[in-house]
Amino acid sequence: MKERVRILLPEEKVNARIAEIAQQISKDYEGQEVHLVSVLKGSVFFMCELAKRITVPVTMDFMSVSSYGNDTKSSGVVRIVKDLDEPLEGKNVLVVEDIIDSGRTLSYLLEILGKRGPKSLRLCTLLDKPERRVTQVAVDYTCFNIPDEFVVGYGLDYAQKYRNLPFIGIVEFE
Ligand code: IMP
Ligand code: MG
Repeated sequence: MKERVRILLPEEKVNARIAEIAQQISKDYEGQEVHLVSVLKGSVFFMCELAKRITVPVTMDFMSVSSYGNDTKSSGVVRIVKDLDEPLEGKNVLVVEDIIDSGRTLSYLLEILGKRGPKSLRLCTLLDKPERRVTQVAVDYTCFNIPDEFVVGYGLDYAQKYRNLPFIGIVEFE
């Protein structure tokens, strides 16, 4: 299937919004440290841009879960492919996600991470498609709510492609 990508959110708009969210996070965690947990691979671009703009001390760790194949639909099956390197005990954990769609991945992940004794556990996402929610998750920081369209860029992929686009685009299938 051939596809085209149409710009939904240009780079400047994304970066400006990330700066706002980073400012909010810096305020909320004032006088404390924040431990960013990135869900690979989609959230790495967002995580870097966010981390650069947070003014309280930041540490980072990465994990990888799989819920999607090379398709645009959730399988509902979530598997830890790569676990975190560091324990979460006593830390202010902020999970950084690229997009929340059905919510299945995140509700499962937050449940697992919550059992590891963090001091606090919050969720920050670049994008949210609220219309698509199947499992409820409490999102603490959202950069953009978007319509029910399949998007790529800024770390998000379609069949592993387009992650490097500097903007968020909608995939249009011909
Ligand atoms: P959920 O479990 O349905 O919330 O799925 C979340 C994950 O699905 C995200 O972390 C992405 O990896 C993937 N995903 C959901 N919607 C999109 C999209 O529009 N573009 C690219 N990946 C998506
Ligand atoms: Mg993801």
